[in-house]
Amino acid sequence: MGDGTGPVDLTGQDSIWVCTCMQSEMWPYCDGAHHSFGGAGPEEVKLDPQKTYKICQCYRTKTRPFCDGTHLK
Ligand code: FES
Repeated sequence: MGDGTGPVDLTGQDSIWVCTCMQSEMWPYCDGAHHSFGGAGPEEVKLDPQKTYKICQCYRTKTRPFCDGTHLK
């Protein structure tokens, strides 16, 4: 869950399921909360497993699920 800190690195994944209902306790990842919330389901984001990605933990990025540097402002 985001706590206002900077991003975490993610590598070796070919896709992730990203929360779109903003109820997940594991944001930006889907934790199934949309089932009880009645919100939209997750969005699959394809990744290159050879690359390392900066995953946002602060909720404020405009390029979900990736860090866009907003946590520094
Ligand atoms: S961690 Fe959210 S914008 Fe960087």
